[in-house]
Amino acid sequence: MTLERHRHGVCSALLPFGTSIFTEMSALAQKWDAVNLSQGFPDFDGPLLIRQAAADALLKGPNQYTPSMGTAVLRKAVAAKMKRFQNVEVDPDTMVTVTAGATEALAAVFLGLVEPGDEVILLEPSYDLYAPMVARAGGTPVHVGLELPHFELPAQALADAFGPRTKAIVLNNPQNPCGKVYSAEELALIASLCESHDALVVGDEVYEHLVYDGRAHTTLLAVPGLSERSLVISSTAKTFSMTGWKVGWVVASPALTEAVRMSHQFLTFCTPGPLQEAMAGALGYADTYYGELLSDYDRKRRMLCDALASLGFGIQVPQGSYFVTVDIRPLGFEDDLALCRALPASAGVAAIPESVFWSQRRQGRHLVRLCFCKKDETLSQAIERLTAWRARGMKGG
Ligand SMILES: Cc1ncc(COP(=O)(O)O)c(C=O)c1O
Repeated sequence: MTLERHRHGVCSALLPFGTSIFTEMSALAQKWDAVNLSQGFPDFDGPLLIRQAAADALLKGPNQYTPSMGTAVLRKAVAAKMKRFQNVEVDPDTMVTVTAGATEALAAVFLGLVEPGDEVILLEPSYDLYAPMVARAGGTPVHVGLELPHFELPAQALADAFGPRTKAIVLNNPQNPCGKVYSAEELALIASLCESHDALVVGDEVYEHLVYDGRAHTTLLAVPGLSERSLVISSTAKTFSMTGWKVGWVVASPALTEAVRMSHQFLTFCTPGPLQEAMAGALGYADTYYGELLSDYDRKRRMLCDALASLGFGIQVPQGSYFVTVDIRPLGFEDDLALCRALPASAGVAAIPESVFWSQRRQGRHLVRLCFCKKDETLSQAIERLTAWRARGMKGG
């Protein structure tokens, strides 16, 4: 028997998507010992207290399966956090599902809700997981590009994208990679379109605590008209600088929660108990924790943005998240992918080509994403290396 039938290995729904750019760029960073500003993970660990609480819980147990919906203590902490920061009432028993990070939450939502033939609207540039997971769930991604250069919501194009088959729109707020924070008017427009087309909104709010310049994060659950039609996803990865722990959740109405729990039970069933225990405590940290997180990131944001601007890149100062988008054309480059593939060797810095976040690559070809979730000394080193590269006429050293 040949294995001809299995030649591609990967199923046809996922085949068009290829290997994640994060894997490719992190591998190049490692190969060239480059400062890795590509994949969005901190090069420091979150609070020792959280790690200590997890270590204690590991020793004390329980170390067996937890309830599939999540431990009561974490579900209550998520509900309390929604009340505290967003003034939204959440019933921890019927409205919260704990997942293995936002990643599994997104998979559980799409697999639990999307029927073959359903359309799901994605606002580009969009996080790379949405389209493949919608496709694998049998749905069709419908892409709507934000308007460049300022990533504005295109009201008419968005209205045109809604139709009888629209199941949901995904709203990543603050948005990776472009750092956009949606305004109250934009949220109201999305709400009115969802109401008139009876569509759901999947909110990816993992950067909810990284919103700068006095702006405030508004969860979809607090937007008039959206409380019953939203599934809000977040996780502890970014807020507590522990991306490897994968503790996340979905908050939604009891009816939508049922759908999420249905698929979640067949995906991971549950999330490690000791990590849930530790993060339940962390969510209740005082305002000073959240305030310091934001001011640290604000400082890093300014440090990287100022340096990149003075090197001659076009800058989009992010309103939220821990990513900055630069326009590479002022430095004479036209192809983000080519530049990002060359940069680890030529400059000793790794970044992400932003065109991979668009369905039509040409749209983001002049944009590159760098992350600033790094120690100040790491950012300084990246800046020094980029400055030297610029001084060499942007050639290898
Ligand atoms: C927009 C967005 N959603 C989801 C995730 C994944 O979150 P988690 O690590 O909690 O699975 C990320 C991680 O980078 C992200 O940027």
